[in-house]
Amino acid sequence: MEVIIEPDVDAAAELAARILVRRIREHPASVLGLATGGTQERVYAALLRLVHSDRIPTDQLVTFNLDEYVGLAPDHPASYHRYMQQHLFAAMEGGPKRINIPNGLARDIVAECAGYEQAIREAGGIDLQLLGIGEDGHIGFNEPTSSLGSRTRLKTLTAETRWINRAFFKPDEEVPHHVITMGVVTIMEARTCLMVAFGERKAAAIAAMVEGPVTAMFPASALQYHRDTMVVIDEPAASQLKLRDYYQGVYAAKPAWQRRD
Ligand code: F6R
Repeated sequence: MEVIIEPDVDAAAELAARILVRRIREHPASVLGLATGGTQERVYAALLRLVHSDRIPTDQLVTFNLDEYVGLAPDHPASYHRYMQQHLFAAMEGGPKRINIPNGLARDIVAECAGYEQAIREAGGIDLQLLGIGEDGHIGFNEPTSSLGSRTRLKTLTAETRWINRAFFKPDEEVPHHVITMGVVTIMEARTCLMVAFGERKAAAIAAMVEGPVTAMFPASALQYHRDTMVVIDEPAASQLKLRDYYQGVYAAKPAWQRRD
């Protein structure tokens, strides 16, 4: 894993956006895996600024989102369909060419999940997967004890994740118990992973993911087996890393040709 520590949220979001933009500029027909949540709002805002200022074409992109709540219609304000329109797609002129987000209203969830895996395969696999991390170590919505061999499927959210995500729902609304999420292996098959996290609230999770044991109790730790994962974080999110100085030294000494932004 390559750990890149930026001084603050803005710099980290900007760097993540630059990595995405470079990928799109060099490969306009990329297949991107996308995430939702508070973290990505910052990344998408920075990405849109760059796409507009540098006139980056997005109309050949194919996208696959990690997850969606079961039982929410695409126009529900807390659905990830709606989130993606609001924070990214609506402001992307002419693109992407094809947007894929699991259908939370699918009657046959098993078929929906199998079809999602099939669609990823038919698109040629995911080139770059954007990820956030839950405080309990989830990636996508692969909660603790998720099989490290899992693929897209139905998952039950933990009480902790539902409590944290209540912020995206109205006070009188119940946060769904179930989601459709890409599995750990679906994520691991992406050619490159880009994990982004901000703030002290994520510090313990980042330390466990990067430096802890690989365990299904902390699904993000599976990324230690991924051959090309970049972790872009701000100083507070890096505060519990034991080898923090080493990661900073590696990045500072990185040859220009190896840079990805
Ligand atoms: C959402 C997703 C989740 C979030 C994670 C962090 O599509 O995949 O894994 O990335 O819950 O969420 P925030 O950014 O809100 O802290």
